Amino acid sequence: MIIIVGATGTIGHALLDRFVQSGTPVRALSREPEKLAVRLGKRVGNLEQSKIEVAAMDASDPQSMRCAFAGGSQLFLALSNSPQQVEWETSIIRVAKEMGIKHIVKVSSPVYERSAPVEVARWHHEIENALYKSGLAYTILRPYAFMQNLLQQASLVKTTNMFFGSMGNAACNFIDCRDIADVAAQVLTSKEWVGQVYTLTGSEVFSYPEIANKLTSLLERSIRYINLSSAQHRIDLIERGHMPPWLANHVVEIQAMSVALPERPTTAVKQILGREARTLDAFLQQYVEHFR
Ligand SMILES: NC(=O)c1ccc[n+]([C@@H]2O[C@H](COP(=O)([O-])OP(=O)(O)OC[C@H]3O[C@@H](n4cnc5c(N)ncnc54)[C@H](OP(=O)(O)O)[C@@H]3O)[C@@H](O)[C@H]2O)c1
Repeated sequence: MIIIVGATGTIGHALLDRFVQSGTPVRALSREPEKLAVRLGKRVGNLEQSKIEVAAMDASDPQSMRCAFAGGSQLFLALSNSPQQVEWETSIIRVAKEMGIKHIVKVSSPVYERSAPVEVARWHHEIENALYKSGLAYTILRPYAFMQNLLQQASLVKTTNMFFGSMGNAACNFIDCRDIADVAAQVLTSKEWVGQVYTLTGSEVFSYPEIANKLTSLLERSIRYINLSSAQHRIDLIERGHMPPWLANHVVEIQAMSVALPERPTTAVKQILGREARTLDAFLQQYVEHFR
């Protein structure tokens, strides 16, 4: 049985879709299992007759994890970022081992220089180390920025024809979450990828000004990327975007890192899936109405 932690998340949702399509038995976990069951029921019809189980799990409650992990063999782990992420993910790894899980596929983040000021990357580094030390089989997926993050700017583009950032002309890796889900489905159902660490990207890099040009062509009106200083960007994310300060810090740190360290695509998606990664052009075409 494959256990999915983060089944309502961006990647987890797409991963569940793969398993619904393939008829693979999985147990999907959420702190709000009733909501997830309703959503899945709409997708599969009669959930009780499908091979998908839904169960409650809260990473702050070890007993809920013991119940949710019982009978599992593989575990997919993509937890949202939060200041509790290290505590919760290391606790998940500990209980998974106790409950006889054999293999964990963990969504991590790109690794930067040890001195790099990206706090969330340091959290992931700490969790990866806990997984290595646990003695469990592992596969680590380190994706770069999700194309789906661009949708967070869609309403701003729609209403003001602008979007903001602090990474100037830096070329960035973007990956479609559906490719991460495809990779996760593959590595969860085969022993071939055990013990491997993959940095996942799309097949091309793009800067924000290039994305503004793409949106201009698609929408047939002028869309501008406005570059802010890191300090201004942080304030904008907190005041206009209503982000908690730790998350605003993360966005600004990641963008500063994209400026400092030129990003390059990797071939990991093709290596694992035997096809090219989805393109940004295809993503923007598919989601263009969100920006219109
Ligand atoms: N966004 C990016 O560009 C990017 C790039 C590289 C790496 N990443 C990494 O990707 C990971 C997030 O993946 P994602 O975007 O697919 O996830 P997500 O959409 O943020 O959601 C993950 C899930 O975590 C679950 N969760 C949160 N706290 C929990 C708790 N205490 N107990 C149980 N479940 C909990 C939530 O489920 P319920 O609410 O249903 O309980 C949620 O659905 C992060 O670790 C991030 O660092 C993101």
